[in-house]
Amino acid sequence: MSRWIVGSDHGGVELRSLVADDLRALGHEVEVIGPAPGAGSVDYPDVAKQVCADVLDNAGSFGVLVCGTGQGMAISANKVPGIRAAVVSDVFSARMARAHNNANVLCLGQRVLGTELARELLKVFVASEFEGGRHARRVGKIEG
Ligand code: RB5
Repeated sequence: MSRWIVGSDHGGVELRSLVADDLRALGHEVEVIGPAPGAGSVDYPDVAKQVCADVLDNAGSFGVLVCGTGQGMAISANKVPGIRAAVVSDVFSARMARAHNNANVLCLGQRVLGTELARELLKVFVASEFEGGRHARRVGKIEG
C-alpha cells in the first residue's frame, strides 16, 4: 500500500472526496488538501505546488490533483522537477501514464469526466506499475 495526497481547487472538490474514499477503500494512506465544499475559490497552482512538494518529500508516494479540467493542475505540477503529472481521460492512457511514463501525479477534470469514468481511471492508474527498461531511459531524459 502507498501514501497518496489528494488535492483540488474549488472546481474539483466533489471528485476529490470520491477519490480519497476510493483510495482509502483500497487500503492506502490518504491525505487531502484543498478547500472545503462550498468554501470560496482558490488558485490551482497553489494546491498543485503543495501536493507536489508532499509527493517529493515522501518517497514512493503519489498525488492526485483535481480541478475543472485537470489541465491547470498538470501544467502547474509539471513545472516541479521530479514530478511527472498526467491528465487522463481514457483507461488506456491511465495505464500507460504509469507503465511507460512513471507518472507520480494523476490529474483529473471534474467538469470533464463522468464520476464513474473518473473512478475507473483512478483504479487503473493505482493498479498499474512502471515497466522500467527502455522506459526508464526515456523517463530519465525528461529531466536531462
Ligand atoms: C477554476 O474555475 C478552473 O479554471 C480550474 O478548476 C481548472 O479547470 C483550471 O485548469
